[in-house]
Amino acid sequence: MTAPSLTDSSMTTDRIMRLAPVIPVLVIEDLAHAVPLGRALVAGGLPVLEITLRTPVAMDCIERMAGEIEGAVVGAGTVLTPAMRRAVAAVGGRFCVSPGLIEGEGDEGAVPLLPGIATATELMAGLAAGFTRFKLFPANVVGGVEALKAFASPFSQAKFCPTGGVNAANAADYLALSNVICVGGSWVAPSDAVRAGDWARITDLARAAAGLARGPTG
Ligand code: 3PG
Repeated sequence: MTAPSLTDSSMTTDRIMRLAPVIPVLVIEDLAHAVPLGRALVAGGLPVLEITLRTPVAMDCIERMAGEIEGAVVGAGTVLTPAMRRAVAAVGGRFCVSPGLIEGEGDEGAVPLLPGIATATELMAGLAAGFTRFKLFPANVVGGVEALKAFASPFSQAKFCPTGGVNAANAADYLALSNVICVGGSWVAPSDAVRAGDWARITDLARAAAGLARGPTG
């Protein structure tokens, strides 16, 4: 498919998921790390950046990274409420990821939302809310590759970004599945490398992740 414009605000979750095989999941403690960390990941070929809303500076990180990193598609993770989804949109975030389904939030909203599911019942609730793209979370705990294989036939319209326990050793197994578009994970931005400002190491990790082959869906 033709690569979507990174400045196209109408990009859907699906199109964002197809920009790279791996979405880095980032917990940023120090606002000063945000832009160099993001630039290091984009330089390695990972333009989609998920900033988890787990630190006091997370919203400021999103705003700054969205404004200052050319080529990045910056969004938020750990989005737990409708108010958090609206706040992400207000600071320029392009997408939201949640560990679960957010009550009352459908596919339409302030900004595209990738909700998390862990069971068939949750997946059915998400489909009923209008979603067809999901995070499987925590992927390694709720059945991993085998769970996704089992979901493929009864839920053929659903495609996934497994996250939680995904790493350099198992990412390729997930990406080979017909219902996986991309994976998420923190392994491309180890906290010791971030603390040390070792951006070259992070670019190397990103480059390896960006080079992972995708299966028939990706
Ligand atoms: C998270 O919510 O922290 C993500 O699922 C990342 O998980 P990971 O650290 O196992 O990659």
